[in-house]
Amino acid sequence: MTEKLTFNSKNTIAYEENARVSIPTYDTLFAMVQSYFRTQLGEKEASLLVIGAGGGNELAAWGPSNPKWTFTGVDPSKEMLQMAENKSIQLGIESRVQLIQGTTADLPPSESKFDAASCILVLHFIEDVQQKLELLQTIKGKLKPGAPFVLVTAYGDPDDTELQDRINVWKSFFFDVGYDSSKLDEMGKGIMNISFIPEHHIEQLLEESGFTNITRFYSTGLFAGWICHAE
Ligand SMILES: C[S@@+](CC[C@H](N)C(=O)[O-])C[C@H]1O[C@@H](n2cnc3c(N)ncnc32)[C@H](O)[C@@H]1O
Repeated sequence: MTEKLTFNSKNTIAYEENARVSIPTYDTLFAMVQSYFRTQLGEKEASLLVIGAGGGNELAAWGPSNPKWTFTGVDPSKEMLQMAENKSIQLGIESRVQLIQGTTADLPPSESKFDAASCILVLHFIEDVQQKLELLQTIKGKLKPGAPFVLVTAYGDPDDTELQDRINVWKSFFFDVGYDSSKLDEMGKGIMNISFIPEHHIEQLLEESGFTNITRFYSTGLFAGWICHAE
């Protein structure tokens, strides 16, 4: 069994580079989500809840170009949050950013709800399906009625060759940047430690959590993204 991925200081530095190999459309994804949120939120001031804000890439992609948006970022990893904080200071957006170390359970109780939320590349790190559901339900509970939500996660049936084929595609991204074959085989086995569930099951969890108009808008390699709205 390969070691479980944790976001410690060593992995945190590697994250920036690996994310863009693992997902060749990584930066485009953030641009796409920004476009979607912009059309949904219009010109007004808006509060965004960023689940898994570690690394600060949502903040960096959406903060400077949307001066009316404020961000509440939640992430259990101290090291990843440190990166997020550094980025928001470098970009001069720190007055519009609140970072909370922990999970949604650590969000302060508040009367006011968020105008939008994202949960990008987090859900597959939560093994238990009931806990995945609880996370989505909590996010839904923090949103204003009708608010847009974007979920991006790994997907697939671990027992289906379709996923194995996509893992081969994913390995080819790393091959192309110079990883050797023995390392790739190890990575192929290691990636199975994240929690893959089939696409229809992800959509079912979103529906069960109280999201509507669930539409898949994105897919690259192992990962896919859905837009939807809080009921
Ligand atoms: C692959 S990174 C994605 C970070 C960022 N969203 C991005 O796309 O660059 C996954 C992040 O999810 C965080 N995470 C894991 N479990 C979480 C949870 N229950 N709630 C919020 N964040 C979580 C990890 O600490 C890590 O920073």
